[in-house]
Amino acid sequence: MSTIILNHPLIEHKLTIMRNKDTGTKEFRQNLDEVAMLMAYEVTKGLPTKNKEIITPICQMTGKELVRPIVLVPILRAGLGLVDGFKAIIPTAKVGHIGMARNEETLQPEEYYAKFPSCLGEADVIVVDPMLATGGSASAALENIKKRGAKHIKLACLVAVPEGISVIEKNHPDVDLIVAALDEKLNEKGYIVPGLGDAGDRLFGTDD
Ligand code: PRP
Ligand code: URA
Repeated sequence: MSTIILNHPLIEHKLTIMRNKDTGTKEFRQNLDEVAMLMAYEVTKGLPTKNKEIITPICQMTGKELVRPIVLVPILRAGLGLVDGFKAIIPTAKVGHIGMARNEETLQPEEYYAKFPSCLGEADVIVVDPMLATGGSASAALENIKKRGAKHIKLACLVAVPEGISVIEKNHPDVDLIVAALDEKLNEKGYIVPGLGDAGDRLFGTDD
């Protein structure tokens, strides 16, 4: 439906810290948390609301409330790094999980875990993953989530390349895509350039 590149100064500042190869696990996590909060604000901007009649201490008024529950779906592992930040802004969100691993040789994604709340079909579903590289993992995750009933879906990624964005736009024209930063290209191993390396490894300290 739409692709938005945020290019937000605060996110760019924090992302620069995360991109630096000398940034350790603690600082990487902390900045990802903060970036996730900023992204959550932007990602939820267009969510539908309905009128709600309330009485303030002063008078009656017509307020607004969200139409649908919100379900966050991190793509494991690295997507987990965005969950706390999103939950800080949307504390009532339920969380589903989908595990997608990229086969290192074929670069093809394989699902290895899935568990979703029962309201998935009626919810606003926000799929989160820091990296959109070939787009294979996110595209397969979206397909699998749709098969399980999800209808109103947004995909939020921290860093993306044009190849990955094209795959999502082609395979999932019904999904809103929100990207914090657009990078240049993929290298021969399918890593984003300049990127930040392997997000899951940097987040969980498995890169040594
Ligand atoms: C990373 C990342 C994405 C995927 C992006 O996960 O978190 O899910 O790669 O690559 P793609 O767009 O080419 O599919 P990875 O498979 O490394 O697993 P991990 O999160 O467990 O480290
Ligand atoms: N997955 C990552 O974690 N980093 C990349 O650069 C590409 C895919």
